[in-house]
Amino acid sequence: MKNQLKFSTPIHVTKPKLPKLEDYTDQIKTIWENKWLTNDGPLHEEFKTNLKEYLGSSEIELFTNGHLALEIALKTIEDKGEVITTPFTFASTIHAIKNTGFQPVFCDIEPNTFNIDVNQIEQLITEKTKAIVAVHVFGNPCDVVELDRISRDYGIPVIYDAAHAFGVKLNGRFIAEYGDVSMFSMHATKVFHSIEGGVLCYKRKELNDQFKALKNFGITSSETVDYMGINAKMNEFQAAMGLVNLKGIDQDILMRKEIYHLYENILAEVPGVNCVPIDQEVQHNYSYFPILLESKTMRDYVNEKLKEYNLFTRKYFYPLCNDFSCYPFDSNDTPVAVYVSDRILVLPMYSELTLSEVEQICTIMKIVVDDFNLQFNYRTTNQVGELSNESI
Ligand SMILES: Cc1ncc(COP(=O)(O)O)c(C=O)c1O
Repeated sequence: MKNQLKFSTPIHVTKPKLPKLEDYTDQIKTIWENKWLTNDGPLHEEFKTNLKEYLGSSEIELFTNGHLALEIALKTIEDKGEVITTPFTFASTIHAIKNTGFQPVFCDIEPNTFNIDVNQIEQLITEKTKAIVAVHVFGNPCDVVELDRISRDYGIPVIYDAAHAFGVKLNGRFIAEYGDVSMFSMHATKVFHSIEGGVLCYKRKELNDQFKALKNFGITSSETVDYMGINAKMNEFQAAMGLVNLKGIDQDILMRKEIYHLYENILAEVPGVNCVPIDQEVQHNYSYFPILLESKTMRDYVNEKLKEYNLFTRKYFYPLCNDFSCYPFDSNDTPVAVYVSDRILVLPMYSELTLSEVEQICTIMKIVVDDFNLQFNYRTTNQVGELSNESI
């Protein structure tokens, strides 16, 4: 049975989407004609215009990757101090906060969306708080309305790490309309990509010149360097990939939606596997398919066993950022994040995954979970969304 179900070629958690080769080569031809490879070339400018419309933002700037875009957004806050954020995120979020001279203060997450628990933010605000960096984890929007309220009441800017949230809308509004700045990642493994790439969306026009300078060594004119900038410019080959991929993004998201619902329908029948519900008001991008298993032992068992079927899932995000050995933080203050991080598993999700592959993945999941239950005599109990304090 195992041999029949084993995938002949490895199935990974993501697979970069490549356009037709001729579409990309058509797009890059002009680079050979004009010899303009980087520094705000024509493809960069065209991509910027198209993205501005797609992301529904009045102001945008492009960067070589999402991480440096986030660092640059934080660099514009000159008064250094504390930044409230969450540990259930990619290393980039916390490194960006630390690299720009801030001290992260960890707020716990809430158990349904894995986003910052807005009910716990205010108790962490002090006179040292300079910003909130909130992550739209797996593309599920944070409680943006409450974050807006906190931002207004305390005069603290909100920067969204929207790395996972490209194309997401909430109640028909673009997700970038919320907060002061939103950063979207366009890394090869993301729902939409420009090989590597990052975008900042914002409303304050006066940030345009500063962002442009900060990504180009702080240079503001041929004889002036006004900021301690870095090199974070997007090149023309990245912009060309973005331009071509943007044409297919809506179709890709529709294919992901089908995959998402198929997973959800089949896995609902597998005890111990809890899918993460999507709110009705959210127009999602289906960037990931995360599940919560009932215990860390079960999660680790399943993750390992699936490899025998050539199926590679990912403990994402594990370990928590407040457990990284490079930082002196402590995850004891964020028990919900510990609970989620110990149980999370992300299954393969990309637009080229076929529906029959999804069915095969679910069949394998069922076998592996049943094996675990038999071996450990385990009776499943918990459901996502019914996380009680006792179970943490
Ligand atoms: C939550 C989060 N923040 C930031 C980043 C950094 O983005 P990039 O890879 O484009 O630098 C990522 C990328 O993987 C991410 O998942």
